Amino acid sequence: MCGIIGYIGAQKATPILINGLLRLEYRGYDSAGISTMEKNGLSVMKDKGRVKNLYDLDGINDLEGTIGIAHTRWATHGKPSKENSHPHLDNSKTFAVVHNGIIENYNDLRAFLIENGYTFYSQTDTEVIPNLIHYYYSKDAEKDEFKLLRAVQKTCKDLKGSFALQVLSKDLPDNMLVVRKDSPLVIGKGNGENYISSDIPAILSFTKDFYFLNDYEFAILSRDKIDFYDIDLNKITKKIKSIDWNASAADKNGYEDYMLKEIFEQPNAIRETIGSHLPENERCTFENLNFSKAFLQSINKIYIVACGTAMHAGLTGKIAIEQLCNIPVSVDIASEFRYRNPIIDKNTLCIYISQSGETADTIAALKLSKSKGATTLAISNVIGSSITREADYCIYTHAGPEIAVASTKAYTSQVMLLNILAIYFAEILESTPYSEIVKIKNEILSLPAKAETTLKCCNEIKNFAKNMYQEKDVFFLGRGVDYNTSLEASLKLKEISYIHSEAYAAGELKHGPIALIENGITVVSILTDELLVEKTISNIQEVITRGANTLVITNKTLPSNNIDKIVPIPDTHTSLSSILSIIPLQLLAYYISKEKGLDVDKPRNLAKSVTVE
Ligand code: M6R
Repeated sequence: MCGIIGYIGAQKATPILINGLLRLEYRGYDSAGISTMEKNGLSVMKDKGRVKNLYDLDGINDLEGTIGIAHTRWATHGKPSKENSHPHLDNSKTFAVVHNGIIENYNDLRAFLIENGYTFYSQTDTEVIPNLIHYYYSKDAEKDEFKLLRAVQKTCKDLKGSFALQVLSKDLPDNMLVVRKDSPLVIGKGNGENYISSDIPAILSFTKDFYFLNDYEFAILSRDKIDFYDIDLNKITKKIKSIDWNASAADKNGYEDYMLKEIFEQPNAIRETIGSHLPENERCTFENLNFSKAFLQSINKIYIVACGTAMHAGLTGKIAIEQLCNIPVSVDIASEFRYRNPIIDKNTLCIYISQSGETADTIAALKLSKSKGATTLAISNVIGSSITREADYCIYTHAGPEIAVASTKAYTSQVMLLNILAIYFAEILESTPYSEIVKIKNEILSLPAKAETTLKCCNEIKNFAKNMYQEKDVFFLGRGVDYNTSLEASLKLKEISYIHSEAYAAGELKHGPIALIENGITVVSILTDELLVEKTISNIQEVITRGANTLVITNKTLPSNNIDKIVPIPDTHTSLSSILSIIPLQLLAYYISKEKGLDVDKPRNLAKSVTVE
């Protein structure tokens, strides 16, 4: 939700800022803008629409400033328009601010500022910030270099909600100030230049060295130094973290879209996620985990909490953990979990899954369970992300940067990591026979190659998509792990093709939804669970009888029985099967979206990381 970029150095800031925004556009894409420090003061150029429109703004090429801030917006308060675009200036045009997050008490602050003579030109919550900074700044009689820091600190104390802020002041032409609370912001350290971004991939081509701010920590950036302060303005030191992602991993590398590239990266993402967790003839290991048998025996309940695709991965993690470890697992949607007063105590383990590590609801749910005494374990794809710093323990998927809004390689990597985690627990608890563990480990090791084989269905799916792209409703069916995969497949189709779809546990069909099945409707079924195949086949026959067109993804040999299309995939262990069966369905969603001529990577109304409630 909204992307922010900043640059301070010796080069012209504008091309760097626009380039950064283009790389961050997956976070929001309804308007964009930049502010640079020019010889005659702050310049602001902004408009509604995509980032590339900035190139057409009058005078943009004349900007000379070497310090600047920039923003790409996902509208919350006020429709996309030039006035509502960021950066926002205060009335005196001394301060320029970009903001990611939501200011919940902006109405009160706005009323207060209007009473004090300020005028507002936008409908945004953000515009209160530069004006509040001005309010405190003008009341401060001191004239030292920390005057801006004090004004921003007081402003932040007044703000309720979430924010990552970049502030420029024309009184401090060689500095930039940043602060965050509950919204992502990273600082990239260069040589004689420094960078700000919402996400690491946008500035990976400039630096691999990053600082991560905690809530209410401030940084004042100059060209060759960065000073950090806590909320009481005490100077603090921060450790630098080196990120080993390759800059080209954030490029399309010849693929038409990031999503297609990321679908094809899955064999490698899975391989990297397996990493060295399964040493030959030894127990499974996690560098960051040291759970004892006594600790795991004391855990009487596990919650897996996440949003969207990550939650779907959690559903399959539940199956793996319950089967191998005999511990009850509940899977919750983070936005529900945080408000339903879940039963948590010191014997609860809460596992939080988030690709970005910045999802607001997931972070809030984590904080809640920590406050109730649970042990918390985060699974993320982004080193140093907020969730990894909040949780007691953290393990990583190694999918590399995921740029497309529709999550693909993060999902399969999450399912893989959860299966490995289940084995790790089971080996410590000795809750599953050794021979069974060895079988699953061997299956895990064969998965990257099986994912490669599965991808060979690409053209077949592409052709099938040509018959499907005009559909209005699609149904996905499955049982057990296949039901979880159906949920994920349905989400993929909805978000990038805008076709309405529903996923049902196949056994639920005749309890209501079968009323919707009529001539010509497409029903997609997933069949991988040996024990449930016969049952699902019966359900498929029921929809065929009522006129449905059917597509089946399966690793079993099926009688063709009037099924329109069967896509075979390699066989594997049940709790791993989603890693393979989702691949044709990711491709299906992708090719349907392409047939419809839609922007696959940036679907309407969505953003990659959901940093507001
Ligand atoms: O970064 P996270 O894993 O926390 O994101 C969670 C969801 O917002 C995300 O999976 C979303 O559902 C995707 N757009 C699905 O493709």
